[in-house]
Amino acid sequence: MPSYAITGAARGIGFEFVNQLSADSGNIVFALVRNEATANKLKELGRHNVHIIEADITNNKALKYAAAEVSRLTGNSLDYLINNAGFVESEREGLTLDSYSSEELLTKDLLDSFNINVVGIIHTINIFLPLLKNGKAKTVVTLSTGLGDLDMTMGSELITSGPYSISKAAVNMVNAKYAAQYKSEGFIFLAISPGLVDTSTRAPTEKELEQLMAMIGKFRNAYPDFTGPITPETSVRMQLEVINRITVNDTGAFISHKGNKEWL
Ligand SMILES: NC(=O)c1ccc[n+]([C@@H]2O[C@H](COP(=O)([O-])OP(=O)(O)OC[C@H]3O[C@@H](n4cnc5c(N)ncnc54)[C@H](OP(=O)(O)O)[C@@H]3O)[C@@H](O)[C@H]2O)c1
Repeated sequence: MPSYAITGAARGIGFEFVNQLSADSGNIVFALVRNEATANKLKELGRHNVHIIEADITNNKALKYAAAEVSRLTGNSLDYLINNAGFVESEREGLTLDSYSSEELLTKDLLDSFNINVVGIIHTINIFLPLLKNGKAKTVVTLSTGLGDLDMTMGSELITSGPYSISKAAVNMVNAKYAAQYKSEGFIFLAISPGLVDTSTRAPTEKELEQLMAMIGKFRNAYPDFTGPITPETSVRMQLEVINRITVNDTGAFISHKGNKEWL
């Protein structure tokens, strides 16, 4: 029975991974959520093969508890870890690195992004590695973004979202480090960008809409035909197609939902 653990699974792309993977009753899916009380969508799915476990990825004790639960229910193994949980400071997303109103706020956004999007991912991988070693698929997927790609940044001239983009560029290196270390053991480490995905849970404020339109405008510098965000359903379906066809020869790759360096 293939087993999957997905972090940040209460909503957005993480929820959709759980939804699509658990539709196959032959899979066992562990939905790691920051707060079980707000995981209503997962509970409403009502699938017997979905196990909801509370784990903030900045809390190693909680991650270890989650790994112990997975171990108990799978007989000490895990096939796929999907590092989906991620942080973006939406209030200040539209700022450039030199336009913050205070040095303290800039430092805060850089450290918060690094702490969740990089340090949290490394601890999650380390804590689940013993189970993954006993799994068949030995696959670790980490959600990254085209914003962490140097060519995309230069091609689009997207100068905002600095702390987020920097942290995702760093996690691409995390992916490469593990890939280089564990290739000989048959592991696949993949950093994947899901495309631009509409995961909003409410109508955007005027400022958020303005920021989104500015970002889309920049994306069109690199992708003139880009029309706008895709749905979580489409993104996850395309990501799963990529995940299902990659092999150990591809380990360490940083690619998009399209399976290449086309980010949108
Ligand atoms: N949407 C896009 O267009 C897009 C594009 C490129 C990359 N990505 C990446 O894809 C991933 C999912 O994106 P999304 O749009 O679905 O995000 P989202 O809607 O903002 O959801 C983020 C999820 O991560 C969880 N999370 C945040 N901090 C966490 C922590 N410390 N510990 C555990 N969980 C935590 C959140 O939990 P709560 O529900 O408790 O808040 C939420 O479930 C992220 O890594 C993101 O960077 C998204």
